[in-house]
Amino acid sequence: MREQIKWWQKAVFYQIYPRSFADGNGDGIGDFKGMIAKLDYLKELGIDAAWLSPHFPSPYVDCGYDISDYRGVAPEYGDLDLFKQFLNGLHARGIKLVLDLVLNHTSDLHPWFQESKSSLNNPKRDWYIWKKGNGKQAPNNWYSAFGGSAWEYDAATDEYYYHYFFKEQPDLNWKNPAVKEAMFNEARFWLNMGVDGFRLDAVGTIFEDESYSNIKLKIDQDELFRLSQIAETAKDHTQVHLYWMKMFKHQVDQPEVHQIMKDLRKVINKYEDRVLIGETDDVAFYGNNDDELQLNFNFPLMRTKKLSAEHVRKNQKERLSALPVGAWPCNTLGNHDSSRAFSYFGDGVNDNIQARLNLMLLLSLKGTPFLYNGEEIGMSDYLITDPKKFKDPLSTLYYNLDKKVMGAPEPNASLTGAERGRDKCRTPLQWTNEPNAGFCPAGIEPWLPVNPDYRKGINVKEQEKQTDSLLNFYRFMLKVRRENPALISGEYQEIETDNQSVLVFYRRDAQQVLLLALNLSDTEQQVVVNTHDLYKMKIIANTVKQQPNVSIHSLALSSYQGLILSEVQISG
Ligand code: GLC
Repeated sequence: MREQIKWWQKAVFYQIYPRSFADGNGDGIGDFKGMIAKLDYLKELGIDAAWLSPHFPSPYVDCGYDISDYRGVAPEYGDLDLFKQFLNGLHARGIKLVLDLVLNHTSDLHPWFQESKSSLNNPKRDWYIWKKGNGKQAPNNWYSAFGGSAWEYDAATDEYYYHYFFKEQPDLNWKNPAVKEAMFNEARFWLNMGVDGFRLDAVGTIFEDESYSNIKLKIDQDELFRLSQIAETAKDHTQVHLYWMKMFKHQVDQPEVHQIMKDLRKVINKYEDRVLIGETDDVAFYGNNDDELQLNFNFPLMRTKKLSAEHVRKNQKERLSALPVGAWPCNTLGNHDSSRAFSYFGDGVNDNIQARLNLMLLLSLKGTPFLYNGEEIGMSDYLITDPKKFKDPLSTLYYNLDKKVMGAPEPNASLTGAERGRDKCRTPLQWTNEPNAGFCPAGIEPWLPVNPDYRKGINVKEQEKQTDSLLNFYRFMLKVRRENPALISGEYQEIETDNQSVLVFYRRDAQQVLLLALNLSDTEQQVVVNTHDLYKMKIIANTVKQQPNVSIHSLALSSYQGLILSEVQISG
């Protein structure tokens, strides 16, 4: 098994959000020059692959996920030469690069859409989804996931176009083979340059139910927002989720998408060793006999308010049993669309040690782990509550909804906008304790405000110097993973114990037995593990300084203490 394993099964991925990573030319916006300057940082961190959020030219309505040229580089980020320098710099350090490929939609300013929109008989008219209205109304009652109707009227041609996301992100018509060929060619452009694969954006949204029939709903989008605002219990949240699924059931996860995935897989298979990772948790995207995507995310792992042992056990049981034979899992705790894990899973008191434990968990579960830039220094959500400073239009959407639907006063609506939008997890990386956290020069306004906690030790430079910093723990844990192949390819086996608050499992193969014991609670826990003589094992990683109390079959763990114990198998 160890020998046959592919690079993307071994790799720890690290998501880079280019606008916020490092500003190399001093204009307050991250760019390739900045990323190139941080190549050694990435190497020292110990990641194996980077996933770069969109770096393409874009009007930036949806923070780069509205692409106007799939072969270019956003001018504020640099140019193709700098892109190649970055790619080569990564490769020279043994790090792979995966790009973000947005298949569902383009920007409304993409030349394809501009042509499509120009007249009813333009050859590209059918590249997007145009429909006649229903009298004076939209073709049907579908919503956009980003608010309002999914249809936008074009007065010049008296038709509506469909958009699952913002109106500036018209959906491509994937039923048209010319669209498929054109988009696959865009992908080939980067594959030919040597990129190692793609993270496929919003793959579930590529097709719609072709009947375009109205959706029957008990509630409208405003009411769904109201329910989501007042949801408290897990049951309330599940109900909101179910309404959401129902609302969009004609617009996501249609069966036709799988043929496109199979065809795209054939495209990348013509190149050596490339990978496709889907932004979906639907295991159907693994295909049959590995003919679609190699990886898709176990998002249910992070969809909880509390990462308890019970939650992880349930998640692993459901997820691992749902995977098709041979499919490889993929785990993450945060990205550019979610809260930062440090804030979200932290209890406000033990955040730093919880972050260590959560990292140990992520790197030890079976599957490829994805990290999000900044988590290695404990960056947390930074709420930008001035509506004039919102960059993510989702913040504005929720701000307005809160006023309209809940009658919220200004400060409450601003806070809702800040909390439910995504700017909070996209603020600039904190490199030093100098002004602007060293992201950009003093006196320059960064594109999003910097979290002032960079002055309190949440920055790379200071943490590099402190042996017990979170950053050094990340480096250490990534090394532990590299040096202990059972963590990567070993079998995952949970061990039942007398203590439900501690997650205990093996990762083991023919050469090595690793035993993991993670106390996911805020109190000290004693756990009996009958299956092994614990005192014979060596502790190879510990989330806290304190040594645990180990006796022959039991362990005493302090709050949020996690351990990896190892026993070398003497074979033959
Ligand atoms: C994906 C991206 C998100 C974007 C959306 C539309 O979910 O992760 O940032 O807004 O697709 O492209």
